[in-house]
Amino acid sequence: MKLSNVAAGYGRQQVLKRVDFELGEGECCAILGENGAGKTTLFKVIMGLVLPRRGEVEVLGRKIDSPAARQWVRRQIGYVPQARSDGRLPIKVQDAVLLGRWGTGFAGLRHPTSEDRRLVWETLELLGLGELASSDCRELSGGQKQRVAIARAIVRKPRLLLLDEPTTYLDVSARDGLPDLLAGIRRELGLSILVISHDPDSLQQVSDRAVVLREGVLKPADT
Ligand SMILES: Nc1ncnc2c1ncn2[C@@H]1O[C@H](COP(=O)(O)OP(=O)(O)OP(=O)(O)O)[C@@H](O)[C@H]1O
Ligand SMILES: [Mg+2]
Repeated sequence: MKLSNVAAGYGRQQVLKRVDFELGEGECCAILGENGAGKTTLFKVIMGLVLPRRGEVEVLGRKIDSPAARQWVRRQIGYVPQARSDGRLPIKVQDAVLLGRWGTGFAGLRHPTSEDRRLVWETLELLGLGELASSDCRELSGGQKQRVAIARAIVRKPRLLLLDEPTTYLDVSARDGLPDLLAGIRRELGLSILVISHDPDSLQQVSDRAVVLREGVLKPADT
């Protein structure tokens, strides 16, 4: 993935001023930065949800510069958003994960295929959720909900995984488990990962490097 000279914002507010960034195939990079620095906005630009005012976004060698390209790029990306309400839905864990297949295996009036179901089971096993498959999402702990959200993002078989503040709602033990979880995902699926965090120490062992977003510019983090 490559961002060149990207500027983006909302109305008169310029959030990203000049972002240059490259992420290699299979690489894992942590993104740091204060509240309001524009980290989530950066993800939205990568997914084509916020249009850059200047500059260029390229994912897997394709320029994201048209509605068709933006639709395509969303299929290559697994996204775990910052604010999650998944836990309040009266839905089984396996069905919550199956929803991640929507638009890939099945959509509209089409039913999930046996391949969709197989991928759901494979992903549940990978994330240690096999025994919770039939549990109601409302009854899960914060850490378990977190894993369901990640399962839903990776069941699409994305090439790039974007995680926005995955440690926010986790207690200390779940937080400590996250690096191993991400390392496992990386090993099994070989995808590239961008992870936003306020807690750089916890991600140090799983990420190859860290960058910090400050005043609209991305720089290597010196910690
Ligand atoms: N949809 C929107 N419309 C208008 N302004 C927005 C919108 N989303 C974000 N902003 C503004 O853009 C700036 C950057 O927001 P963003 O959510 O990208 O920051 P962030 O780095 O993710 O912050 P946090 O660490 O709190 O999640 C903020 O000043 C915010 O108010
Ligand atoms: Mg954010």
